[in-house]
Amino acid sequence: MKRVAILGSTGSIGVQALDVVGRFPDRFEVVGLAAGRNAPRLLEQIRRFRPRVVSVCDEAAARAVRAEAPPGTEVLSGEAGAVAVASHPDAAFVLAAISGGAGLRSTAAAIEAGKPVGLANKESMVLAGELLMARAAAKGVAILPVDSEHSAIHQSLVGHNRGEVRRLILTASGGPLRCTPAAELAAVTPERALKHPNWSMGDKITIDSATLMNKGLEVIEARWLFGVEQQRIDIVVHPESVVHSMVEYVDGSIVAQLGISDMRGPISYAMGHPERMPLDLPPLDLGRLGKLTFEPPDPARFPAYTLAYRALELGGTAPAVLSGADEAAVAAFLARRCSFTQIADVCADVLEAHVVEPVRSVEQALAASEHGRREAEKRVGALAHAPAGR
Ligand SMILES: NC(=O)c1ccc[n+]([C@@H]2O[C@H](COP(=O)([O-])OP(=O)(O)OC[C@H]3O[C@@H](n4cnc5c(N)ncnc54)[C@H](OP(=O)(O)O)[C@@H]3O)[C@@H](O)[C@H]2O)c1
Repeated sequence: MKRVAILGSTGSIGVQALDVVGRFPDRFEVVGLAAGRNAPRLLEQIRRFRPRVVSVCDEAAARAVRAEAPPGTEVLSGEAGAVAVASHPDAAFVLAAISGGAGLRSTAAAIEAGKPVGLANKESMVLAGELLMARAAAKGVAILPVDSEHSAIHQSLVGHNRGEVRRLILTASGGPLRCTPAAELAAVTPERALKHPNWSMGDKITIDSATLMNKGLEVIEARWLFGVEQQRIDIVVHPESVVHSMVEYVDGSIVAQLGISDMRGPISYAMGHPERMPLDLPPLDLGRLGKLTFEPPDPARFPAYTLAYRALELGGTAPAVLSGADEAAVAAFLARRCSFTQIADVCADVLEAHVVEPVRSVEQALAASEHGRREAEKRVGALAHAPAGR
């Protein structure tokens, strides 16, 4: 029986992780859950999985949960609450699936407490990847990727010599705007950008998929997770989202992982590791699919991913600043305060104006992300544009 804590349990990844737990009641027991403000959903989860401890992001939500939670579940709040869930002495595995920079402290706490981490919160790696990987190595902690691309790379590396890797190839669906002409992108509405063709995900990551910033953030994540410099990490657009990513070796061989577009695959791989669990999901029918297509990404229409390479080149706090700027710019786009194309413009402007420092602590990474957010907010405030979709 593996005792697990799930951070971000009320979100898209968290709900799917609990679906996996529910399918394997003999393998998993839920010790702790951490969520933001969705008290009704958390209460349903408490009633079903009976965790010892839960946390929500503020006291108001905690009061709502305490009022209805069954006895036996301790209800905490704030970042300290999420950290307590992440480092609970009874948890043997922590799934880190809070969205955004808000997930960094609890991911770091799980590592410091010596817990193996299933990492969905890519922002942890983007903000402080080098630092977290060093701490995980010092603590002997495994970080198992949950992002489907990184899970695919993890799976494609098994049994191979890391020294023989030539490059990592991240696949990108291309998002809902892959075929949209450049001239139409500025007028894209949030509703249109949120219609992902293959994956059902939270709003922030769905918009990041549309701009391709998500792929850029994944390049940063891969840089630290697998210790491969960005010059050896490539992106290829693959609209079918069947090949989840690939590793090319020095002899030219490419090893890939394929599967249907269902996050329960990579979630169960991380949760069950080193065992594979018999998931009862529809099989991938390649004969019916017929063909798989690939194309290079288009930096002229989707420049956001190139900013991630630039941030890695700048080093230190630059990726954290980019991540914070993107969070603010995406929120502004969703609130119709900036246009789709202005997301990348704002992020580029903030990144180039930033004076880089080395990342020495989680606090410093969070401060850099906050700085990026504030700088992006300033730029959004100064924009004169006709908001899309009104
Ligand atoms: N969805 C996917 O398929 C997918 C794929 C790969 C990677 N990821 C990554 O996984 C992470 C989660 O993505 P998602 O799509 O599941 O996001 P989501 O649906 O927006 O869920 C986010 C979760 O984080 C919680 N949360 C937000 N702010 C919090 C805070 N300050 N304190 C505690 N909890 C907080 C939310 O709680 P409430 O809802 O209760 O407010 C919710 O449980 C992201 O880093 C994303 O990039 C997601």
